[in-house]
Amino acid sequence: MLSKYKILRILILFILLGGRIIAQSNRVVSNSTERDWLDTSGMPINAHGGGILYHEGTYYWYGEYKSGKTTLLPGQNWECYRTDVSGVSCYSSKDLLNWKFEGLVLKGMPGNTHNDLHPSNVLERPKVIYNSKTKKFVMWMHIDTADYSKACAGVAVCDTPTGEFKYLGSQRPHKAMSRDQTIYKDEDGRAYQIFSSEDNATLYISELTNDYLGHKETYTRNFENKFREAPAIFKTNNKYVLVTSGCSAWNPNEAEYAIADSILGKWTVIGNPCTGKDADKTFYGQSTFILPVAGKNKYYIAMFDKWEKTDLEKSKYIWLPILIIDEGKIEIPWKDSLIIK
Ligand code: GAL
Repeated sequence: MLSKYKILRILILFILLGGRIIAQSNRVVSNSTERDWLDTSGMPINAHGGGILYHEGTYYWYGEYKSGKTTLLPGQNWECYRTDVSGVSCYSSKDLLNWKFEGLVLKGMPGNTHNDLHPSNVLERPKVIYNSKTKKFVMWMHIDTADYSKACAGVAVCDTPTGEFKYLGSQRPHKAMSRDQTIYKDEDGRAYQIFSSEDNATLYISELTNDYLGHKETYTRNFENKFREAPAIFKTNNKYVLVTSGCSAWNPNEAEYAIADSILGKWTVIGNPCTGKDADKTFYGQSTFILPVAGKNKYYIAMFDKWEKTDLEKSKYIWLPILIIDEGKIEIPWKDSLIIK
């Protein structure tokens, strides 16, 4: 016979264990795209084509705030689905799971149609890095006209991570087209912009000026005529690892990764990093950013967008762990959910 005391002890143990299981299951990002990922106020997270900045103990997730109707621009020889420019959203989090909406840190500018941020234009793939010398937060983004003929890189700056950022304008770096892009800040403080150029045929890697607000003369042309988009980069074991997508508008295709000893190249293509169900279609996602998790050894999260091309606002996210094999060799296996360690 169990004594009352023993039963009580077993009960307490059950309650404690149950609590732990719940706490553990709460540390999971679901990759099921049936449900929305909600922010701390219960609204779907709206930060597409985004990237994450870790600054002083907080993660800041910046992305395209897509709202309103998706329309198909007539007269294009490709499926040019678009939403109006609303701006760049920012969400903050301490644990990568619970995200607080910090508002639009760069806002669309109705009024003058010639303004880059006018709703009728295109603003995509914003990324923010911190310049510890100037103490400024610098945002780079793809700026375009609705038909994607402008192909420019836009830049904005702010004293705080949560805005409001001041838009400084756009340009074609090295007089070359600039569309899908990311920004990488290296361990030595130098920063680089990686962007699809020459009508998306060739990927440029260009060093930013010391204040990160412009480009130095140094740049390289990579994967010539290979049409790579959606660049996402990280560094492990002294190797740079660059994941890209193919070029098929909002439709999924096979990802590819390359490794290099220097960020400016030369890059060696390894192949598709994705494994498991639908790996040949990047799990129906497209790369946007690779996040090194703060304070964790070799723990990287690959972030993908799962585009809903006819209703872009409803696009979802896929977050997967990156397995580091060796010497920069990686694998991104499909997981129904990602456990945040
Ligand atoms: C994708 C690109 C997106 C967006 C889209 C427009 O290939 O990665 O950022 O530009 O095309 O169709």
